[in-house]
Amino acid sequence: IYYNEAYRDQYHFSVKEGWDNDPNGLVYFNGKYHLFFQFYDDIVWGPMHWAHATSTDLLHWENQPIALYPDANGAMFSGSIVADVNNTSGLFNDQEEGGLVAFIAVDGNGQRIKVAYSKDEGITWKKLDNIAIDWTEDPLQSVHFRDPKVFRWEGKWFMAIAGGPFRLYSSDNLIDWDLESTNADIYTECPDLYPIKASDGKIKWVLVGSKEFPGRKRFYKVGDFTKVDGKWTFVMDKDYEEDEGSTTFGKDSYATMTYYVQDFGTEANPTLPEILELNWMNSWEYSKILAETLHQDYAGTFSLNLKVGLIKEGDKYLLTESPIENYNKLRLNSKVQKWKNVKLTEDNTLLKDFKGELYEIIAKFHPSKRTKKIGFRLRTGSDEETLVYYDIENEKILIDRSKSGVILNEQFKDVDSMAMKLNEDGTLDMHIYVDRSSIELFTKDDTINAANQIFTKPTSLGASVLIEGEEATGDITIYPLKGIWN
Ligand code: FRU
Repeated sequence: IYYNEAYRDQYHFSVKEGWDNDPNGLVYFNGKYHLFFQFYDDIVWGPMHWAHATSTDLLHWENQPIALYPDANGAMFSGSIVADVNNTSGLFNDQEEGGLVAFIAVDGNGQRIKVAYSKDEGITWKKLDNIAIDWTEDPLQSVHFRDPKVFRWEGKWFMAIAGGPFRLYSSDNLIDWDLESTNADIYTECPDLYPIKASDGKIKWVLVGSKEFPGRKRFYKVGDFTKVDGKWTFVMDKDYEEDEGSTTFGKDSYATMTYYVQDFGTEANPTLPEILELNWMNSWEYSKILAETLHQDYAGTFSLNLKVGLIKEGDKYLLTESPIENYNKLRLNSKVQKWKNVKLTEDNTLLKDFKGELYEIIAKFHPSKRTKKIGFRLRTGSDEETLVYYDIENEKILIDRSKSGVILNEQFKDVDSMAMKLNEDGTLDMHIYVDRSSIELFTKDDTINAANQIFTKPTSLGASVLIEGEEATGDITIYPLKGIWN
């Protein structure tokens, strides 16, 4: 009965039963990826636990025992894990390969950071008795003191903390932490901070976060990680002081976290791994009514695993997020459908025989002078459709799920959109993943994306190319995909 429910995504990971929100403690260790996540044993949010799943390919996951339970200090809110391979903590004197150390936001009467460690690859955990950092020590005196993300640079450990204003701590042993800097202008949940080599060869630092309000959106800022008055500080580029810094315009993408892989090295000798990230593919705007409305015994799904990049456009660095290449392994290559340079008019019937539930579309459109709108109608049925399209006149990319099927609440119906220009050569790229109950779009060299859940009838399997105004031409490839559950 599990993993084949009416609205269960077939190639996105989700909790088997119960509730999930943020990905936590993403880490690669001894050949395995670990995904911990906010979990509660009910269909709604409650006293948080960390659940655990492991994978070798980031496609197929094996559920592991619940890793962390609430304790006398409170619930286990979001946090991160590192692999302490050189035993800087002294917690792994008897283990040559070191072990995993977790940083948990404990929520109860204000928030504080607790440390736990595991000597068996994350299966069992021991919490340290002492609180590592208490909100009462926070110079900003905010009880919102959560979502610690730890990384290693210049021979030191660093911890970003927010949930409220942004703070940065450092440590030599993962247990004793000293304040480096604070930035009350960056107010966010789930901060993450990492170095990345940009397309111009420079190493830049990216701060990502998820804004609690208004509208609950994740964002990023590009800058440098450097010492200011002797204290480590994230200094954002001028371009990002005003800019919202958004890659994503869908509703269902929140609480980004990157996988801890290794020490980032030093400025003189960086050892930067590929940066991979995962998002919670749901929204606080309706997640709490989702399971009940859909009559299912689980709530919460994760996005595709994405690879992060940084490209330079003019003077400005732009973040890219692209589905990892492993997803190509899900393609049913023998069933691919391809059209090259096909003419598309308003009443085109290109996809009249198409039926699909799980598939990937790669499209490049060449609009003509008077093409007005261009894109796709997906998961169409007698009274259902989801529109993914570009509005050329208004220079906007949009997803409209107001007729996608079950509507969870008013906000669910909003047409999501973002300002976007066509490619410089006048073309438009769309890379779309359709799963049983979600659509993820990547466009504009992967600098813009969206994830939206849709709760469509199982019989709404049609699709068509959406054209308004004069005809366009297009190259379209559609790969049916296989699921991950069996
Ligand atoms: C983000 C968040 C975090 C918090 C967790 C609680 O979605 O609100 O800030 O740690 O969820 O479940």
